Amino acid sequence: MDRMQETTERLKRVSQAHLLVGAEKLSAPALSRFLNEINSLPLEELAGMLAQTSSQKSRDLSLLSPPNIIHHDAASSIEFREAGEHMIRRGQVAAFTVAGGQGTRLGWRGPKGTYPATVVTGKPLFRVFAEQILASERRYSVRIPWFIMTSPQNDADTRAFFADNNYFGRQKQEHIFIPQGVVPCTDADGNILMSAAGEIATNPDGHGGAIHALHSSGALKEMSTRGITQLSYFQVDNPLVRAIDPIFLGAHVSATGSSGEMSSKCVPKRNAAEKVGVLCNIPTEAGNRTTVIEYSDLPTAMANQRDAAGELAFGAANIAVHVISVEFATRLATSSDIRLPWHRAHKKVSCFDAATGVHTNPDKPNAYKFECFIFDALPLARSSITLQTSRMEEFAPIKNAEGEDSPASSHRIQSDRNGAWLESVGVIIPRRTDGSVDAKIEIGPMAALEANDLRNRTTIKSIRRGEEFVM
Ligand code: UTP
Repeated sequence: MDRMQETTERLKRVSQAHLLVGAEKLSAPALSRFLNEINSLPLEELAGMLAQTSSQKSRDLSLLSPPNIIHHDAASSIEFREAGEHMIRRGQVAAFTVAGGQGTRLGWRGPKGTYPATVVTGKPLFRVFAEQILASERRYSVRIPWFIMTSPQNDADTRAFFADNNYFGRQKQEHIFIPQGVVPCTDADGNILMSAAGEIATNPDGHGGAIHALHSSGALKEMSTRGITQLSYFQVDNPLVRAIDPIFLGAHVSATGSSGEMSSKCVPKRNAAEKVGVLCNIPTEAGNRTTVIEYSDLPTAMANQRDAAGELAFGAANIAVHVISVEFATRLATSSDIRLPWHRAHKKVSCFDAATGVHTNPDKPNAYKFECFIFDALPLARSSITLQTSRMEEFAPIKNAEGEDSPASSHRIQSDRNGAWLESVGVIIPRRTDGSVDAKIEIGPMAALEANDLRNRTTIKSIRRGEEFVM
């Protein structure tokens, strides 16, 4: 049987034979690429993905309870820091960034990591993380490998950006790019959509695709060989993230109640209505487990519930910063009975009808996109801790072109944090009546990874209102 015939048979078996309508009009190379694409897709999984997402079991949310939050005080910080620094120095920690998203809301022309994010010099996100990792490597006299998940759509551009920037002064071989898998988009009846003649409409399989990508690329094996035991996981869109945080790493391996498999950071929700997932505890057959409830699933009454101290009972906002052990990721990736659940979102997807030759750019959602989420791994960890941190210190994501979580809001938070750091070493900082910093202040990771690093390093006495200041 030739490839065309084999593919036709396979497509018939999964009720997707429409994909080959008009294929005879493709040139030989285009047809070959098309058959390759079809054959690389997890077509046999699609029916299960559709069934699972259309009959998602609703969880009994009345059983949820607030998570075990660790508020680190001065004493525990010292203890956690020591444990974390010990691991970093021994080369047991790698950075892991998920950067395979499509970034449609921001609408930037390249991979999101290339977006100019800092407040004065406009350093790209990848440079901010690279400098943090470099500064940590120097501080702890160690090499810290950086695993970066890309997607087939942005892998080449991402690699080229690092090469063009000479890996930001770090060793080239300490960057490991891992393209994630893609899944086809479907219409409401489960028919796979096409984006053009001879091209399937696909999307990356979500940040949860990281587990499979880390395994299938051989990265988990490489980590084990190198003695790397923990991954510092973060998203590509938060310039204030602590790429390598000894306190969080130490809490993950040494805090009471942590199995050292997967931990999370949270910040207090701004208000009950903030559109952010929250960390909670949920009873399962295996015991009490940590989970994330998306804002759209949290009933309003629960979102508004207050605890004895008057704080939101379900107010631990998930900021998508985790530590994940290599052993845990390997268990998830290799156990035949474990699979992160699929989620389905109704979205606008440009598509092509091969029968009529018509392209459509829909003005309302016409397609389903399937994704897995990394936080669905949390309930699979035997026990998990959630470390509370400050939003101003560590969370200024760039998701949207304007409004909330935009470059403008991120810049304000960056200046607020940097102003507070300088104030802590005695610099006079101009503030507006609402308390925000009235200047544009940038502090690069090579100058300081945390406020304490500024001690004895700055000679300036004050910053003027509206001034642009960089160090
Ligand atoms: P988002 O949920 O913000 O999605 O991703 P996105 O695709 O980047 O942006 P929109 O929704 O299209 O505007 C959160 C993080 O997860 C990564 C992103 O790169 C970002 O760091 N991600 C998301 C992946 O690595 N792969 C995916 O398939 C999805």
